[in-house]
Amino acid sequence: MGEGGNTQVTFSSLKGFKDILPRETPVWQRVETVARGLLEAYGFEEIRTPALEQTELFKRGIGEETDIVSKEMYSLEDSRGRGLTLRPEATAGVVRAYIQHRLYEAYPIQKLYTIGPMFRHERPQKGRFRQFHQINAECFGDEGPRSDADIIVLAMALFDALHLTEVSLKLNSLGCPDCRPTYREQLKNHLAMKTDRLCEDCQRRSQYNPLRVFDCKAEPCREALKGAPTIPDFLCGACKDHFEAVRSFLDGVHLAYDLDGHLVRGLDYYNRTTFEIQTGLLGAQNAVAGGGRYDGLVRLLGGPDHPAMGFAVGMERLTALIQEQETLEDRETDLFVVSLGQEADLRAFPWIRALRKQGWRVEVDYAGRGLKSQMKKAGRLAASKVLILGEEELRSQKAVLRNMKTGEQTTLDMAEMVPVLQQVLTS
Ligand code: HAM
Repeated sequence: MGEGGNTQVTFSSLKGFKDILPRETPVWQRVETVARGLLEAYGFEEIRTPALEQTELFKRGIGEETDIVSKEMYSLEDSRGRGLTLRPEATAGVVRAYIQHRLYEAYPIQKLYTIGPMFRHERPQKGRFRQFHQINAECFGDEGPRSDADIIVLAMALFDALHLTEVSLKLNSLGCPDCRPTYREQLKNHLAMKTDRLCEDCQRRSQYNPLRVFDCKAEPCREALKGAPTIPDFLCGACKDHFEAVRSFLDGVHLAYDLDGHLVRGLDYYNRTTFEIQTGLLGAQNAVAGGGRYDGLVRLLGGPDHPAMGFAVGMERLTALIQEQETLEDRETDLFVVSLGQEADLRAFPWIRALRKQGWRVEVDYAGRGLKSQMKKAGRLAASKVLILGEEELRSQKAVLRNMKTGEQTTLDMAEMVPVLQQVLTS
């Protein structure tokens, strides 16, 4: 740009990276508050881990053949040539922290949750973003079926607490290192007969990691999987018992679920119980939450041999579902103060401050417009009460309070304004 030039530069957010605007944040805050309350009731404590980790952590943890690691990671090299990656999910980082800080030493069962942004370089579409947010819960140190059921019940309770009814629970077991190899061989044999119909990726996967073929969206690969053996038919005795016990706990609380023998999830670390919470309301991106048991991951990442089980909810999908079901009302303004003229503005200023300090949502009009336009603004902000303070009121030392729902008007003595308003707003 030459001297004196005035080129207009405009910026916009990156594709798949979304601003969450003020009209949306009340829903997000509500979800977070409900989730935190519920997680804490289930004995979870919050952990916050960094967004950037060593690339190797995810390669090892999630698996090199997964779509997440092979195609979707935001990776970079720092000035010393170290491979770093923006976390595509939270589990690997939480496990890293669990090991690094020896969290298991304090108490044998550790329940940790985290809420924050994740990054995956996927093709953006409805419900799928490149930066998205998860509410993620992990329970370490117990291998019994009751903790599986507890985690699943907790995940479903979140939907319940938000009055989201249009969801269904899918359940599967992926077996263990004892029984999965037999299943893998059977699946390999099934796919070997259809190799020429598989996409290039799946031809390779069918050799090295055949379960990952289930993640492929290509129609010919989906077709090739029709009639494929399902893993629950190959479970060893111990895995079968475990799965039966998980189901008994769920049945005991009348939690409905569908068995889905092809639910393998997109990450390699799972064993035994896996689950997904799906909805029919959001189009192709139908998974709102997913999780499962991952008994081998802590050891795989260099820690002790501790079992674990967890899940994550996608917040963009959850909030979209809330909007779809319209269960949340816009938050009202508790009080709108119409002050007419500088003296009235000055008089009302400390009252407004005091009420806001007590948590009331109080609004004013900075533009100093007339009564009519200020009343209009109060209506737009859904104010339930309006306090009017003009010349006449200043003279009589009595302000007018109007109940916007009933239209009723009363006068309030200015001498005791804050406690009186506090009382009126509480009633
Ligand atoms: P995941 O199934 O990959 O599992 O992701 C969990 C949830 O995150 C999905 O059900 C979905 O709602 C949301 N999600 C995933 N990718 C996107 C995206 N690109 N855009 C919007 N939302 C998305 C995991 O991440 C595991 N770490 C869950 C877990 C925790 N397993 C055990 N512990």
